[in-house]
Amino acid sequence: MFENQVVVITGAGRGIGAAAARLFAQHGASVVVNDLDEEPARDVADQIASAGGRAQAIAGDVTDPGFPAAIMQGAVEAFGKINVLVNNAGFTWDGMLHKMSDEQWQRIVDVHATAPFRMIRAVAPYMRDPARAELDANGEIREPRCIINVSSTSGLHGNIGQANYATGKLGIVGLTKSVAKEWGRFAIRCNAVAFGLIDTRLTQPKERGVAINVSGSDVSLGIPGRLRDRVQLGIPLGRPATPEEAAGGILLLASPMAAYITGHTLEVTGGAGI
Ligand SMILES: NC(=O)c1ccc[n+]([C@@H]2O[C@H](COP(=O)([O-])OP(=O)(O)OC[C@H]3O[C@@H](n4cnc5c(N)ncnc54)[C@H](O)[C@@H]3O)[C@@H](O)[C@H]2O)c1
Repeated sequence: MFENQVVVITGAGRGIGAAAARLFAQHGASVVVNDLDEEPARDVADQIASAGGRAQAIAGDVTDPGFPAAIMQGAVEAFGKINVLVNNAGFTWDGMLHKMSDEQWQRIVDVHATAPFRMIRAVAPYMRDPARAELDANGEIREPRCIINVSSTSGLHGNIGQANYATGKLGIVGLTKSVAKEWGRFAIRCNAVAFGLIDTRLTQPKERGVAINVSGSDVSLGIPGRLRDRVQLGIPLGRPATPEEAAGGILLLASPMAAYITGHTLEVTGGAGI
């Protein structure tokens, strides 16, 4: 389904991003696997290569202002072009609003809204410019191009302890619609996927004490066990999704089946929030 297409996925060393990288590769795409952590990014790229696919790991922090240009350049050096950009990288740094620090707010808004904006701006020379050139030369655009931004039910509905994350994740919905409107005339689609509860490092029981190291400090990840059980009760399908099921939503929107879908936010939630 994605033969001859090049896909760049951020935060693809684990969880949903890693599952999406494998799935895109299984369906014929060449994949650029980014992550903050070099080793998991390399592992995912190696797994894809040993399964007969094509992948290149490019580690780096998407919130580093110079990184978006570097990864786009790296992707084009490796595979010659970019068809799909998936803005997936992210983490949570939860806390009640009245106690939330400026740094806690800013870091989360940076990774979930500012970084995707910069990534989209940085992909313009490799997506918007060639589309425009195709249009000028042939009067039509044949090459498929699209952007998928990862949002969350926390953005659509708000969530206790996640004022920072909810703001970033709803911000990206507005970003998605704006890109859809600006770049639609170049046949570049832009959609978002809002996930509910997906079984990844981000959502494991907090009691396990897992953390992400960001700029030298550890930020604790996870959902308190009791709360996680309660969240599960509100899911019509009655269970969290696997990362592979979540990745399916991303591929669906990037696929030719979604050729006339743009500016949409697809809820991949097992029915939570309906
Ligand atoms: N798991 C869920 O239930 C859920 C629900 C809604 C939305 N999401 C979103 O899905 C996306 C993927 O999360 P996941 O659940 O797979 O979590 P995960 O922790 O398994 O994977 C996220 C990956 O992003 C990487 N990352 C974090 N910050 C980065 C940065 N600055 N630069 C580059 N890479 C970075 C991490 O190292 C990690 O490998 C995130 O945007 C998350 O907010 C997840």
